[in-house]
Amino acid sequence: MFRRRPRIQYKTPEQIRKMRVAGLVVAEVHQAMRESAGPGVSTAELDRIAEEVIRSSGAVPSFKGYDIGFGPYPGSICTSVNEQVVHAIPSERAVLAEGDLLSVDVGAIVDGWHGDAAVTIEIGAVAPELTALREACEAAMWAGIRAAAGAKRLGGISHAIEHSVEHAGEYGIVEGFGGHGIGTEMHQDPHILNYGRPGEGPKLRPGMALAIEPMITLGSPDTAELEDGWTIVTADGSVAAHTEHTIALCEDGVWVLTAPDGGVEQLGDAAASAARAE
Ligand code: MF3
Ligand code: CO
Repeated sequence: MFRRRPRIQYKTPEQIRKMRVAGLVVAEVHQAMRESAGPGVSTAELDRIAEEVIRSSGAVPSFKGYDIGFGPYPGSICTSVNEQVVHAIPSERAVLAEGDLLSVDVGAIVDGWHGDAAVTIEIGAVAPELTALREACEAAMWAGIRAAAGAKRLGGISHAIEHSVEHAGEYGIVEGFGGHGIGTEMHQDPHILNYGRPGEGPKLRPGMALAIEPMITLGSPDTAELEDGWTIVTADGSVAAHTEHTIALCEDGVWVLTAPDGGVEQLGDAAASAARAE
């Protein structure tokens, strides 16, 4: 396919600090989701809690009303359960049960700047293979984030994610969806595949802000879209996980804008001094 050159929005350190404010709102919602999600709780209830946390922080839920051409997205979060991969709409009828694997995706805007991150949560006791799936997805995300600190090109991030998943076990890496640039819009260039080669793609440069978001399954990488026009499910019904952080490439390292600690614990010396100085 012939693709135009990506148009990347490079951020100043001051703009990255603004994105950090939005990122911390997203992190706060994740914490509220971890505390609230459990057997008997509907995903609509989680949506109400998330919207309250976002708005009480003076932020706006970026997903609500988001329109890719088929009508506005109705929720403030995406709540994808088990075989749902991403973009599942919160519902009163979707009541969580012990053993479910839930991925919650959250977006917030503060002062025009976006944060976007997803977390996979175990509902009660889950099967060991679901814990392994969640951990493999988280490990792949961190491998991608770590690569962002050292790689020369975007493909280095994609390759690190793919490599991490392959070494974790027999998982499908979802095709057709991936990470993205982020800034004054939720979705910006470049698109970030969760597989690829290190030499490919645009050069990584300070000022880039990227959403890194592996999606993996216990089975096939193929997906299907439900009639609601949003929900993406695995084609074979296998369980999926989705984990995401928004990161910024700073002059001296990576700042994980949607992690409460800025990524310092995971990244060590590869974390930006701005993250360590907080
Ligand atoms: N975080 C999601 C992504 O990067 C966006 C959610 S889609 C929406 O694809 F419609 F809910 F906004
Ligand atoms: Co995203």
